[in-house]
Amino acid sequence: MTVHNPPRASDHPVADVFLDRWSPRAFTGERIFDDLLGSLFEAVRWAPSSNNSQPWRIVYAHRGTPSFDKLLGFISERNQRWAKDASVLIVLLSKRTLQGAPARNHSFDAGAAWAHLSLQATIAGWATHAIGGFNEEAARGGLSVSDDYNIDVCVALGRRGDVAALPDDLKAREIPSQRNKVASFVSEGVVSAEW
Ligand SMILES: Cc1cc2nc3c(=O)[nH]c(=O)nc-3n(C[C@H](O)[C@H](O)[C@H](O)COP(=O)(O)O)c2cc1C
Repeated sequence: MTVHNPPRASDHPVADVFLDRWSPRAFTGERIFDDLLGSLFEAVRWAPSSNNSQPWRIVYAHRGTPSFDKLLGFISERNQRWAKDASVLIVLLSKRTLQGAPARNHSFDAGAAWAHLSLQATIAGWATHAIGGFNEEAARGGLSVSDDYNIDVCVALGRRGDVAALPDDLKAREIPSQRNKVASFVSEGVVSAEW
């Protein structure tokens, strides 16, 4: 058993980054430099995708810019309370078509892209927090996104900050969460009756 970054512990050995990555809400808001941002997007670049179609698209904005305020405006008020302190906000989109036909796996592939981004950020000492709580219609209109693209998720990127600065109801949640056991989602050869 690998014990890492208490209170998280794995039952089987895994690379540290899988336990180190978690989604904080307290961010410092400090500036992220372009070379680091470049390596996070580079990690996205090397994500696997159906037919190597690379359907992910990213719109991002640095804190303190009008674009940041615009992206923040798409996010639900509940999430805005902490997402406002991110260094960068990201909107992750995926192309819904592949060679003119509906693409089956565009969001799945965007999920791989998000995982690469998030793990690379962790390795670099930064943190990400995905945000599904946003107004899709507002984002589509505000960014002039055509129907050819899915708006999959927003992401807050930043360096972990002071928990004391969070609203009271969020302070207690600022710890790495746990997971179900491997046996609860893995079954050899058949679908488990216990799923
Ligand atoms: C697609 C997606 C949408 C999410 N939406 C929100 C959200 O709207 N607000 C929020 O606080 N966390 C959101 N999260 C974060 C999850 O709650 C979090 O990843 C999960 O509880 C596991 O915790 P961890 O990332 O710290 O390991 C989202 C995560 C994903 C992957």
